[in-house]
Amino acid sequence: MERILVLPGDGIGPEVVAEARRVLEVAADRFDLKLEFEDDLIGGASIDARNTPLSDAAIDRARGSRAVLLGAVGGPKWDAMPVDVRPEKGLLRIRKELGLFANLRPATVFPALVDASSLRREIVEGIDLLVVRELTGGIYFGEPRGNALVDGRREARNTMVYDEVEIARITRVAFESAQRRRKEVCHVHKANVLEVSQLWMTVVEEVASDFPDVELSHQLVDSMAMLLLREPGRYDVIVTGNLFGDILSDEAAMITGSLGMLPSASLGEGGVGLYEPVHGSAPDIAGQDAANPLAAILSAAMLLEHSLDAPDAANAVREAVSAVLADGHRTADIAGQSFDGPVTGCRAMGGLILARLGDA
Ligand code: IPM
Ligand code: MG
Repeated sequence: MERILVLPGDGIGPEVVAEARRVLEVAADRFDLKLEFEDDLIGGASIDARNTPLSDAAIDRARGSRAVLLGAVGGPKWDAMPVDVRPEKGLLRIRKELGLFANLRPATVFPALVDASSLRREIVEGIDLLVVRELTGGIYFGEPRGNALVDGRREARNTMVYDEVEIARITRVAFESAQRRRKEVCHVHKANVLEVSQLWMTVVEEVASDFPDVELSHQLVDSMAMLLLREPGRYDVIVTGNLFGDILSDEAAMITGSLGMLPSASLGEGGVGLYEPVHGSAPDIAGQDAANPLAAILSAAMLLEHSLDAPDAANAVREAVSAVLADGHRTADIAGQSFDGPVTGCRAMGGLILARLGDA
């Protein structure tokens, strides 16, 4: 029996995760996997019930699971809280405590959705990028951090720090991923200004020498922000630190047309993997059955692939998603202006995927 911990979180998290869970149940049935599910709280939901964005009990449960399926955290209700007690802290804590240093964020364009992107069709057609983001270091976690009053002025401080071990291990993940793809890695940095990036350059080059079959390039983060829009098709695997990866993965998502389509996997030294959609909690549409569950469902596909070693099941889920889109079904976020059919709700979209998956 493989235990999956479900952490629905806030906003649209519970709605999209419910669909992803149904998909896992049907996939388990069809591919003979034995799964059991447990639920717990994270984010604002956990703050409201337990006064902490992630309880120790939830962490223990996560450690005892094969994988964690997470929705989203945060919302206006908790926006005024200081950073160290906000819903987002729950997410940062689970990543850190489970040692999930490697965040894989694939951005692929489904053929049926080429026109959903705000970029021209010829630029986005066939895009298949993988952002490999370092997830447990850098400015997100560096010390010292905090607020102070200095000479009567309010001051705030964060620290960007990486050591060579942290850089080397994420770089290896990127190169190993590239070996299964187009064999190109682009390292994104700010080495014209930051010592941290200069160390990344050196260590990335060292690791690259173990992968002679993979081509390495380096790109400054500011020009990368531009190049990703101009020629996204030029890139295969992008490897970068926590903050740059956060920003560029949203940009890559937008190239594909909708943040509602993009899954992620966070992997580390321990055996537990965490899977979550890249999108946020979208409080403005929460509870209206209007969310797109496909990013969560595609995250479930990544869970099948990376944590359950069930690539066939993963592909079946992806094919179901592709087929349902090809049939013309659209949630509101991917409907686009020229779409004239009725928009599909979150639950119904999940149902369409289930039907495909069960039938096949
Ligand atoms: C993400 C999110 C998180 C991050 C937030 C919610 C803490 O933006 O997963 O990209 O910055 O890592
Ligand atoms: Mg982000």
